[in-house]
Amino acid sequence: MFFEKVVEPSGILQHDTLLMPFSNSESPLYNVATKYHENVVPFEGNHESWLLLDNYQDVAVVDNPPFSMSAKIEQTYFDKRIPFVLFRSAVAYPKFIFKTKRAGVIYENSAKGVDFVWGLEKHIKNDSYITENYPNIIDNIKAMGGLEKRIPVGFSFYKTNYDFKVKTVTFSRLKYPSKKDIFLYFNRGVFDESSTIYEDEEDGRIHIISN
Ligand SMILES: C[S@@+](CC[C@H](N)C(=O)[O-])C[C@H]1O[C@@H](n2cnc3c(N)ncnc32)[C@H](O)[C@@H]1O
Repeated sequence: MFFEKVVEPSGILQHDTLLMPFSNSESPLYNVATKYHENVVPFEGNHESWLLLDNYQDVAVVDNPPFSMSAKIEQTYFDKRIPFVLFRSAVAYPKFIFKTKRAGVIYENSAKGVDFVWGLEKHIKNDSYITENYPNIIDNIKAMGGLEKRIPVGFSFYKTNYDFKVKTVTFSRLKYPSKKDIFLYFNRGVFDESSTIYEDEEDGRIHIISN
């Protein structure tokens, strides 16, 4: 879905090389990417490979990076003028995405969010005291729904087909933004390609207006 609905229509596949610095050659996402592009470079063990941009003539980045690194990655690619489409948590979109020209955000319906395993199970399994003394703890937490959490997701991008600004905004319950000084302002209607999105200098809000 990520490739079909977001990556391909964005126009980013026009670049010679598609760098996927967080997906190894066995990952499902890399496999999908190879169906859309002839020259996809996966993660090969170097944790700095998301920064190795000078090795390529005409490179764009597409991936599902760790959410904890999203803002750093996006800011770096804006600064270096590298086109990218990244899958990210929509809990906290940084303001610089809205401020940057030719940047945009796509939401699929995020009202329910997507389940993510957030690593609790791994920590428990690594703790021999807990696993020995509380052998059923993982099953119990799982039964309570505590091993996964729901996160609204979106896609951030900086891309080459400038007609593709905001595709669809269909969420019904808004969680963004988390910081108190940033606001989203909606007036009406359905938000699609023809919608206008801008940051109002006076009230500091992001406005999305359907046309
Ligand atoms: C959200 S997952 C996505 C995985 C991949 N896109 C897939 O579909 O299988 C992000 C991955 O990046 C890895 N990772 C974290 N920091 C990294 C880094 N600096 N360089 C490369 N991979 C990293 C994590 O271990 C994790 O497997």
